[in-house]
Amino acid sequence: MRSPKDFFKPKAIGAPQPLMQVPYRPSRMIHFFDPSNPKMATKVPGLAARSDVVLGNLEDAVQVDNKVAAREGLVKIAQSTDLGGAQLWTRVNSLDSPWILDDLTTLVTEIGSQLDVIMLPKIEGEWDIHYVDQLVAQLEARAGIERPILLHAILETAQGVANVEAICAASPRMQGISFGPADLAASRRMKTTRVGGSHPGYLVRTDPDPENPDATRITAQQDPWHYTLARMVDACTANGIYPYYGPFGDIKDAVACEDQFRAAFLLGCVGAWSIHPSQIEIAKKVFTPPVDEVRWAKRVMDEMGDGAGCVMIDGKMQDDATYKQCKVMVETAKLLARKEAELAEAYGFSAEDLA
Ligand code: GLV
Ligand code: MG
Repeated sequence: MRSPKDFFKPKAIGAPQPLMQVPYRPSRMIHFFDPSNPKMATKVPGLAARSDVVLGNLEDAVQVDNKVAAREGLVKIAQSTDLGGAQLWTRVNSLDSPWILDDLTTLVTEIGSQLDVIMLPKIEGEWDIHYVDQLVAQLEARAGIERPILLHAILETAQGVANVEAICAASPRMQGISFGPADLAASRRMKTTRVGGSHPGYLVRTDPDPENPDATRITAQQDPWHYTLARMVDACTANGIYPYYGPFGDIKDAVACEDQFRAAFLLGCVGAWSIHPSQIEIAKKVFTPPVDEVRWAKRVMDEMGDGAGCVMIDGKMQDDATYKQCKVMVETAKLLARKEAELAEAYGFSAEDLA
């Protein structure tokens, strides 16, 4: 095991100092774009203005013949585009693919200072992160990068799920994990052809009525992803990194997309992928704490003072634990309010609150 004393030493001479804590930056939606599409360069500034994160995707959904064009397109976009306050992430190809070595070498050496996070698909265990951690450190040193590029794993193989805690703890570069339901379904041999969401066959049914055995028995669709999402949230949070819901593939079904995103938000996820521009607004709506909840949380915090003890507010019991729940809500709201003036006003934060 690596000594805890060495954990925060750069992994290559000349690489930047690893971060002791991964800062939370608004990342309610990670908007995917295909940098191999020549029209994209003109669209990215508009997408960045609406998104917390824009991500140049090099992996699945990019045609094999376009892999090099996607990598080169991303370099050009990063070098020539003002993204305003949006972060730039990329999803590189998987570690067993013929493209990954050039993906990492090119991106870190040419646009390493613009890249906030590298998303790594199909991560199976901590050994995958160790490999990328070392390589990125060597490349950062070569390129003279001053701030460490962070890593983000996609949880999309059965083995990755079995090792999720070790993946989260593998490096101080780990920023977060996204849940990848499509590859995960394939890896687990689940019998579904959808990308995320529930399934009409995965249900519970009420017992037959003994008085009326022919009466309709009510059914309700269940969430086949609950176990994995909850485990991912715990693994991330226990290691001081951030959990995200991944793709929702049925673009036309905005209602189910919103439901899936909200279930993830309520469980603790901080954002989701947007794989179509229409999903940017859905993620924004869901992952922005609701105004009434934030105002309520502020009120609980004001009335509880130092957060200890027990009080009743509007007939609801509040104690040290509910104070902490409220603090999560208020702190998330403050981060977003610093970015968006209308939100600051809606939540009722003063300039002093946000200082
Ligand atoms: C995402 O990459 C997924 O496989 O769902
Ligand atoms: Mg995938």
